[in-house]
Amino acid sequence: MGFQRFILCWVFLLFLPNPAKTQLDQELNFNGFNGVSNSSNMSLNGVASIEPNGMLKLTNDTLRVLGHAFYSAPVRFKNSTDGKAFSFSTSFVFTIVPEYPKLGGHGLAFIISPSKSLPGSLPSQYLGILNATVVGNFSNHIFAVEFDTVQDFEFGDINDNHVGIDINSLASNKSTPAGFFSNGNSTKENLNLTSGLPIQAWVDYDSVKNQVTVMLSPDSIKPRSPILTFDVDLSPILEDFMYVGFSASTGMLASSHYVSGWSFKMNGEAKSLDLEALPKLPDPKKKHSSALIVGISLSVLVFFILAAGLGFYIVHRIKNAEVIEPWELDIGPHRFRYNELKQATRGFRDKEVIGFGGFGKVYKGTLPNSETQVAVKRISNESRQGLQEFVSEIATIGRLRHRNLVQLLGWCRRRGDLLLVYDFMPNGSLDKYLFEKPKAILSWEQRFKIAQNVASGLLYLHEGWEQTVIHRDIKAGNVLLDSEMNGRLGDFGLAKLYEHGANPTTTRVVGTLGYLAPELTRTGKPTPSSDVFALGALLLELVCGRRPIEPKALPEELMLVDWVWEKWKAGAILEVVDPRLGAEFDDLEAVVVLKLGLMCSNNTPKARPTMRQVVRYLEGEAALPDAVASPGAYDGKKRGEFEDYVHSYPTSSGCEKASDWSCDDADVDFEGGSGSPPSVSGSRRGGSDRYPS
Ligand SMILES: *[C@@H]1O[C@H](CO)[C@@H](O)[C@H](O)[C@H]1NC(C)=O
Ligand SMILES: *[C@@H]1O[C@H](CO)[C@@H](O)[C@H](O)[C@H]1NC(C)=O
Ligand SMILES: *[C@@H]1O[C@H](CO)[C@@H](O)[C@H](O)[C@H]1NC(C)=O
Ligand SMILES: *[C@@H]1O[C@H](CO)[C@@H](O)[C@H](O)[C@H]1NC(C)=O
Ligand SMILES: *[C@@H]1O[C@H](CO)[C@@H](O)[C@H](O)[C@H]1NC(C)=O
Ligand SMILES: *[C@@H]1O[C@H](CO)[C@@H](O)[C@H](O)[C@H]1NC(C)=O
Ligand SMILES: *[C@@H]1O[C@H](CO)[C@@H](O)[C@H](O)[C@H]1NC(C)=O
Ligand SMILES: *[C@@H]1O[C@H](CO)[C@@H](O)[C@H](O)[C@H]1NC(C)=O
Ligand SMILES: *[C@@H]1O[C@H](CO)[C@@H](O)[C@H](O)[C@H]1NC(C)=O
Repeated sequence: MGFQRFILCWVFLLFLPNPAKTQLDQELNFNGFNGVSNSSNMSLNGVASIEPNGMLKLTNDTLRVLGHAFYSAPVRFKNSTDGKAFSFSTSFVFTIVPEYPKLGGHGLAFIISPSKSLPGSLPSQYLGILNATVVGNFSNHIFAVEFDTVQDFEFGDINDNHVGIDINSLASNKSTPAGFFSNGNSTKENLNLTSGLPIQAWVDYDSVKNQVTVMLSPDSIKPRSPILTFDVDLSPILEDFMYVGFSASTGMLASSHYVSGWSFKMNGEAKSLDLEALPKLPDPKKKHSSALIVGISLSVLVFFILAAGLGFYIVHRIKNAEVIEPWELDIGPHRFRYNELKQATRGFRDKEVIGFGGFGKVYKGTLPNSETQVAVKRISNESRQGLQEFVSEIATIGRLRHRNLVQLLGWCRRRGDLLLVYDFMPNGSLDKYLFEKPKAILSWEQRFKIAQNVASGLLYLHEGWEQTVIHRDIKAGNVLLDSEMNGRLGDFGLAKLYEHGANPTTTRVVGTLGYLAPELTRTGKPTPSSDVFALGALLLELVCGRRPIEPKALPEELMLVDWVWEKWKAGAILEVVDPRLGAEFDDLEAVVVLKLGLMCSNNTPKARPTMRQVVRYLEGEAALPDAVASPGAYDGKKRGEFEDYVHSYPTSSGCEKASDWSCDDADVDFEGGSGSPPSVSGSRRGGSDRYPS
């Protein structure tokens, strides 16, 4: 009996919140984190650590890591589940040191969370707080104030230097560019989050006014006016007991994130921190001098050997210098070191080649530090497209983020080599699953999903960003498949930016035969509608399992779209479905995709649907019209005008070897405008006129 009572008592004690937790005026004060240990005072996880000088370091500048630091004990925010959340106030000093000047990521956040380990959270744009599955879910019970240094379009970020209030999501409920009102001044001054200097932040919640305010300052004095005010009742978001702390993450851009002091108070105003009294970052210049002392103390002989070695090294460095141009600094993604990529691809070994992209070889690689698998596209010396396309590709794709696009992770430039680093897509490109002797037969469900994926990726390019991005080279070879066989659009080397509404100018026509809208060959003006045309060809291919132009086919089947149209007119549309599927497909879905393929393939741009419509049809949100117009004639000319070029269209055997990535079967490339004759060629032709020496 006595023993049972003892156990009960013991269990009771274990679960009884300790007195500190129940205080309604609980206060935390950390003037630096000296003497603070993991578990007993703060709970650290991820790469977070406490530096010997008392700085709390949430992340270093390793790519794609996260760090959490929470006060170990939960804090009482309400005195009953249905009760009203208490007011609270907090102040902290943080410093963000970017890996390269101006280029760092992703950011830091003050968070109130039901958990202190945040299981399943992701780095990069998720800031170590949430993941893609749970983002936006009301059951997260997360309140965060983010100090975000990368603009993520996925979450509608306003810029790459902002403060935002986030509730259960990383799409901020309210955000503003980082700044402050210095005392007695009504003009907001900008504040640079990645300056490497300490910044003090104040977050206050008033449960009477139901209002959250955020203030920033580069010094110790609390400004009189907030830069961010958000009216919200946090009662439904906060639970009775919550953990308070910080989270930070890096992505393909990295910064070291530090917190040097923190105060928190329940039902009262937190103490402001005195910047002078807090630990400081070590002076980065110190390291060099000790190396110098060692050098001097060595014997003369060793000194000379070292000097000679150093001389060689410097000469080598100068010869191989990576010249950083101004535009490179304005570009989002991470700049890799050449040696890192060389190591990743084992010295660009031929064995690591996984394909030949638009204008260079693609290598598989594993980044030395993070074990991340990547695809490295090396733009070859001979490429006549060279630097201009390179800049265009980085500037465009590097800032776009969507689950149906192949993410550009970074780049590197050294002498003759231009290198682009992409997420590795383990299943290669779609064309390898459709034509000739495929690796594996895609099921109908997979095909239909890929059609939806590509359409939603393309819709994002056309409408999801402040500028319209025209892909210009949609084809099966540019659709890559991730580990779950989701389709992702790749190879944005040809994409150009157009301001919304502005008239696209006449430029060189680039694309692949069979996917080129007829008006392109005349006007040379790529438009969203010409992408839709190419998508139409792709949709038909997905269902029929053959290329848009098949020289080996019977003459009446040569042009895929004409053949599908004839079968549609004859009421036998399902006869065109890939015979390899047998009867294993959904008739209704197949008809939707085929009809949509025909509508997109219309020779008249105005008759094609927009990408938004295409997505709605594929998602089943809208019903397709019963009748489909003939893809038919274009300004009195027959579609057959392409037949002239078919003779020079190379069969795929020419580029089958080792080609898991895009293989430009036949690029049509000529100056647009007045009837200059188109030529068909392989992609490797031509000089190096645009190439920097
Ligand atoms: C850290 O925890 C220990 C043990 O609970 C305590 O004695 C110490 O005062 C705490 N330090 C700080 C700075 O809160
Ligand atoms: C802190 O302690 C927790 C639990 O004891 C442990 O899981 C975590 O790895 C520790 N973190 C660091 C950075 O040492
Ligand atoms: C960053 O921290 C991690 C874990 O503490 C460590 O393994 C890594 O070497 C550090 N990276 C750098 C560049 O200091
Ligand atoms: C709940 O908290 C308020 C302070 O916000 C306090 O006045 C009240 O007495 C508390 N109620 C209980 C039942 O503890
Ligand atoms: C996302 O996070 C939740 C908890 O926050 C976790 O249960 C889930 O496993 C995570 N999902 C993934 C895909 O990591
Ligand atoms: C939110 O999360 C809960 C529990 O994890 C889950 O049951 C629910 O389906 C999620 N809601 C949405 C919209 O994802
Ligand atoms: C804040 O944003 C989340 C998701 O973006 C939304 O679900 C929620 O309703 C918003 N809350 C308020 C108070 O606006
Ligand atoms: C207010 O700020 C502006 C711009 O930073 C500055 O030019 C001006 O002198 C300031 N005025 C006062 C009263 O501090
Ligand atoms: C922010 O600080 C960095 C480093 O000092 C500097 O290069 C950059 O121009 C600053 N940005 C702004 C907007 O002031």
